[in-house]
Amino acid sequence: TDLDRFIAGLPKAELHLHIEGSLEPELMFALAERNQVTIPFASVDEVRAAYSFSRLQDFLDIYYQGAEVLRTERDFHDLATAYFDRAAADGVVHAEIMFDPQTHTARGISFDTVIAGLLSGMAEAEARHGLTAKLILCFLRHLDEEDAFATLKAAEPWLDRIAAVGLDSGELGNPPEKFARVFAAARAQGLRLVAHAGEEGPPDYVRQALDLLGIDRLDHGNRSLEDPVLTARLARMGMTLTVCPLSNLKLCVVESMEAHPIDRMLRAGLRATVNSDDPAYFGGYIADNYRAAAAGRGLDRDDLVALARNSFLGSFLNDDEVAGHL
Ligand code: HPA
Ligand code: ZN
Repeated sequence: TDLDRFIAGLPKAELHLHIEGSLEPELMFALAERNQVTIPFASVDEVRAAYSFSRLQDFLDIYYQGAEVLRTERDFHDLATAYFDRAAADGVVHAEIMFDPQTHTARGISFDTVIAGLLSGMAEAEARHGLTAKLILCFLRHLDEEDAFATLKAAEPWLDRIAAVGLDSGELGNPPEKFARVFAAARAQGLRLVAHAGEEGPPDYVRQALDLLGIDRLDHGNRSLEDPVLTARLARMGMTLTVCPLSNLKLCVVESMEAHPIDRMLRAGLRATVNSDDPAYFGGYIADNYRAAAAGRGLDRDDLVALARNSFLGSFLNDDEVAGHL
């Protein structure tokens, strides 16, 4: 349709994308074979059939299992280029992608292997598509702060190639306050800060992310809307929310796309953006997310333009670079 073409043609930035969550079942099988890793599925269809979740943890269990096929620098390169090719087709001109080093270092894959593969994939995306990219190192919040500190240490030789640190994995029971010191250390090293908060966790976790971590950008943030004072604060400070409609639907953060709060966020003055989170697991890349939100909530072209504009305003590009995209 016209709206589909409009969405795909709208230049946009992707700000919430876990590169391990872009591992399509076909590539999972190819890497399992290449690396002689066994996976508990007989076919691509069987893998897809397993992607039915009723909460975040259901997804995380299968997402960490899928990542086990990733072993070599070439694997991470291939994973990244597959994502960038797909993103470019959806009109993404800039992507700030998250990676979970602890998922790999815990299996004996070095931090250097992971990041070298991702960086070479980024260079290829820029050469092929003119798509620029930045890296966000995410700490797994179900692990302790000491493990996060060790990861920040492993990242030290690469700090000039990393834009930000983030916080992901199981939210409930792992509040932002658990990572206050390691976020302060990352800030002192010149990194920007993002955190998942208010996906399953309460508004208080969003407040902690602001007050105890000092985040520059909020991943998800949906449950902020339960608290009008917090919502007004986020609007006033111009905080960017990286919202992920299809993820919210698949993880039962919303009951239906018709109930998604994306337009309420915009009306409340929040700098909301649309992103794909883990597209291989949630059934769609970024244009699918724009389409689903537009269909579910009757967004018009002005809303879609505002969302795309917010994605550049909320990025970690410098002012001149942002201006060049607006
Ligand atoms: N939430 C928390 N952790 C994650 C997610 C998410 O949506 N995706 C990948 N890791
Ligand atoms: Zn996420």
